[in-house]
Amino acid sequence: MKYDQIKEKLSLAPQKWLVTGVAGFIGSNLLETLLLLNQSVVGLDNFSTGHHHNLDAVKNIVSPEQWSRFNLIEGDICDYSTCQRALSGIDYVLHQAALGSVPRSIADPINTNLSNITGFLNMLTAAKQEQVKSFVYAASSSTYGDHPDLPKVEDKIGNPLSPYAVTKYVNELYAEVFFRTYQFKSVGLRYFNVFGPRQDPEGAYAAVIPKWVAAVNDNQTIYINGDGETSRDFCYIENVVQINILAATNEDLQKSEVYNVAVGGQTSLNQLLELIKNNLGRNDFNDIKYQDFRAGDVRHSKASIEKAIKHLNYDPQFTMDQGLRKMLLES
Ligand SMILES: NC(=O)c1ccc[n+]([C@@H]2O[C@H](COP(=O)([O-])OP(=O)(O)OC[C@H]3O[C@@H](n4cnc5c(N)ncnc54)[C@H](O)[C@@H]3O)[C@@H](O)[C@H]2O)c1
Repeated sequence: MKYDQIKEKLSLAPQKWLVTGVAGFIGSNLLETLLLLNQSVVGLDNFSTGHHHNLDAVKNIVSPEQWSRFNLIEGDICDYSTCQRALSGIDYVLHQAALGSVPRSIADPINTNLSNITGFLNMLTAAKQEQVKSFVYAASSSTYGDHPDLPKVEDKIGNPLSPYAVTKYVNELYAEVFFRTYQFKSVGLRYFNVFGPRQDPEGAYAAVIPKWVAAVNDNQTIYINGDGETSRDFCYIENVVQINILAATNEDLQKSEVYNVAVGGQTSLNQLLELIKNNLGRNDFNDIKYQDFRAGDVRHSKASIEKAIKHLNYDPQFTMDQGLRKMLLES
């Protein structure tokens, strides 16, 4: 498998990586894998939604020697000189820092725009200046907006349904223009709903899986938006880590590209709840209330992952069920 070969190659010749948003869910999982491969990692985070406890968890998993190869910069990507400092001497960039969540962006479009567009442009510009080997960034399935086709194919997008979706689409536009204008190539990974360890269950903007797992465990009411038939292509974090490393080290990139990152499945919210209850052995749980559909939400989502399989040798190792089982067993 290509991924195993690349990991082996990296272990033999360690590289210097920058992970922005390193204290967040996806960033801290990228950090864990990179340190386990003996890479040097600079992490940049302003702790707006990330947590020191995510970094402590990684510290407990890796060896002290591996941990010594990690340097944390507490700072904001909205500050250009901070981006320049973080990028100094970096080979590969995995840019994850952004304000996630559709409802947060509806409540606070200005701050979402600052981190997701100004911050992104700072990172892209500073990475070009530093002449990094590659720049991979977190794009989003929200870019498909109201396009009705299923599965979602990279070159067919609709109108954005939220400020968040606008920001993630603007990232892609800047990435394209940076290739056209400066021949600076980058890879956007359109994550579908990612889940796994260290995803925050707290707060108004928590993602559905950690929020519902916590609710079932704590016997709290679960609120389902709409009729529960809204569907998503839930993707386990280890698939996401794999494609980040494949994308960063891919030497065949001809121009800026975007790839769907998912497993090609489709699970409704009602099905998701049943799976969580089964896996937690809580089939008795029935404190469920249906409420209005949520503004800005896409109704159905399912990815075609053919492009990533073909160009990046993406080979997701976990279906949604397998990922959920692994996460719940290990938590
Ligand atoms: N989790 C998903 O399902 C999903 C889906 C699509 C796209 N994404 C994207 O993936 C990326 C990571 O998401 P996540 O789920 O790990 O979210 P997260 O909130 O756990 O992590 C984001 C991290 O970025 C940091 N950050 C935010 N603004 C910053 C700024 N201005 N300067 C420095 N650091 C900043 C936060 O403190 C946090 O640690 C984001 O770009 C998000 O939009 C996630």
